[in-house]
Amino acid sequence: MSLAFSEDTRARHERMLARYPNREAAILPTLHLAQREFGHLSAEAIAYVASLLGFTPARVEGVATFYTMYNRKPVGKYHLQVCRNLSCSLMGAEHLIEHVAGRLGVRPGETTADGKFTLSTVECLGSCGTAPVMQVNDDYYEDLSEDKVDAILDGLR
Ligand code: FES
Repeated sequence: MSLAFSEDTRARHERMLARYPNREAAILPTLHLAQREFGHLSAEAIAYVASLLGFTPARVEGVATFYTMYNRKPVGKYHLQVCRNLSCSLMGAEHLIEHVAGRLGVRPGETTADGKFTLSTVECLGSCGTAPVMQVNDDYYEDLSEDKVDAILDGLR
C-alpha cells in the first residue's frame, strides 16, 4: 500500500481517535481526513483507512458509499454541490442546476475539461431556510439566484 497520511495528518488522526469512544465511531472523520489528504476516496484510500482502523475495506467502503459527501472519483479544484432536495427544489434548484451546467458546459457528475469545476447534485445540505443552497468545497452559498451563481462562478475563474 503506497498511500499514507502525511506526518501532520497522522498526528491529527491520532488526536482525533482519542476523542471517539471506539474505532467504529471514527470511520466518518477518518474518511474526511483521507478525502482531504488524497483528494478523493479511491479503493486504495479506502483500504488505507480500513487498515488504520482495523476494519475490512468492505466495511469502510459500505460507509463511504452511503454518504454523498465522500468523493469516490477525482473532483475539480472547485466542487459545486447544488442541493436538489425539497426546499431547494421548491425555490428553483432544478433551474439553477441547469444554469450552472450551461455556464460550465458539463452535466451533474462531470468535471470541466480544465479540471477546475465539478458539478454535483446532492441531498439536503441542512440549510433549508436559506434555499436554494450550493456548497463549493467547504463554503455554503445561500438564497441563490442566477445572478448570484454567476457572480460566484466569475469569482472562482
Ligand atoms: S433542501 Fe436544500 S438545504 Fe435542505
